[in-house]
Amino acid sequence: MSETEYDLTQARFDYTPKADPAEVRRNYDYDMEKFLTHSSTHRISPDAVALEAFLTSAYHSLEKGLTMEVPKAGFGLRKIRPILAAVRELEREGAAQFATEGARGCMRAYVAYHDTRSLPIPSDVESDLRTFVAEMETRPYPGGATKFTQADIAAATAIDYERFVQTRCSLRHYTGAPVAPDTIETAVRLAIKSPRTCNRETRRVRAVFDPALRDSLLALHSGNRGFGHNLGAVLVVTVDLREFDMVGERNQGWIDGGLFAMSLVYALHAGGVGTCMLNWSEDCEQDKRLRAAFDIPDHEVVITFIGVGQMPETFEVAASPSPPVDEVLSLLQPR
Ligand SMILES: Cc1cc2nc3c(=O)[nH]c(=O)nc-3n(C[C@H](O)[C@H](O)[C@H](O)COP(=O)(O)O)c2cc1C
Repeated sequence: MSETEYDLTQARFDYTPKADPAEVRRNYDYDMEKFLTHSSTHRISPDAVALEAFLTSAYHSLEKGLTMEVPKAGFGLRKIRPILAAVRELEREGAAQFATEGARGCMRAYVAYHDTRSLPIPSDVESDLRTFVAEMETRPYPGGATKFTQADIAAATAIDYERFVQTRCSLRHYTGAPVAPDTIETAVRLAIKSPRTCNRETRRVRAVFDPALRDSLLALHSGNRGFGHNLGAVLVVTVDLREFDMVGERNQGWIDGGLFAMSLVYALHAGGVGTCMLNWSEDCEQDKRLRAAFDIPDHEVVITFIGVGQMPETFEVAASPSPPVDEVLSLLQPR
């Protein structure tokens, strides 16, 4: 076949698996069903984790109020009763310490904010709120507002960030040596700091270190050929849908999960190990196969896998050239 006879459109069609519109809809339905079943968009999920998310989101809006430039009395009033009730219920159930402690710290800061500025707390919640705060006595709780100075930020960012970023590359050449669980733990701890909607902790990571388990996981994945067998760990990043409660959040899991995955990769780079994101760009049938073989709850969606491994002394990476900035950055114009 000559170059002129070559059918590029057909070649593109053949290149990756194609789906007709009905198949695309069936796959969207699969995602939608999970969101409908597990989120609190149309009925309130009975899971403690959903109440924890509700609480975190509610007290977070007060936390934000605490950091505003212009002080205002009684902000977030409508959130206060639900916050107190949610803390009580979760504490009764012995659940969600992270959220209840953050909420307690925030409510204490809320009262202190008003008292130090001699601002009135709305009378319909004041008595209950003060009782709630008084019962904490001097116990320490995180939450509220934290002070930083410009100098703090300048000192903390005095690093060669460009070099750090430019040396993070997707590695496809590993020694096969193990990766210490500590390395993963540290990176996850740092990645947790990445932004997340309303401060809710929706992100989850499952780590596989055992080579046999790694191989059976990677057998379900296409895109690790030639290097997967030398990875010291594979991470499965997921997001818990039970923590979303608005239709506008129907795609939020992939955003929060994606941001988290990127932070995790940077943290692993800082920890001296090589990484390669491993896509979970799979259809619903493959997703079901993964869930049949591995313990991933139905209420979680898989964002991506991440391969982690030890780097050889010297290695090559794909050049992966980047486009110029003006292809990405422009000024938004009104229509
Ligand atoms: C979500 C995601 C999934 C990816 N999946 C794969 C994969 O399955 N296999 C692979 O070799 N690279 C994978 N990559 C790596 C990209 O090819 C790579 O990030 C890109 O070429 C830029 O190169 P760099 O990471 O070296 O800067 C993935 C990247 C992302 C963000």
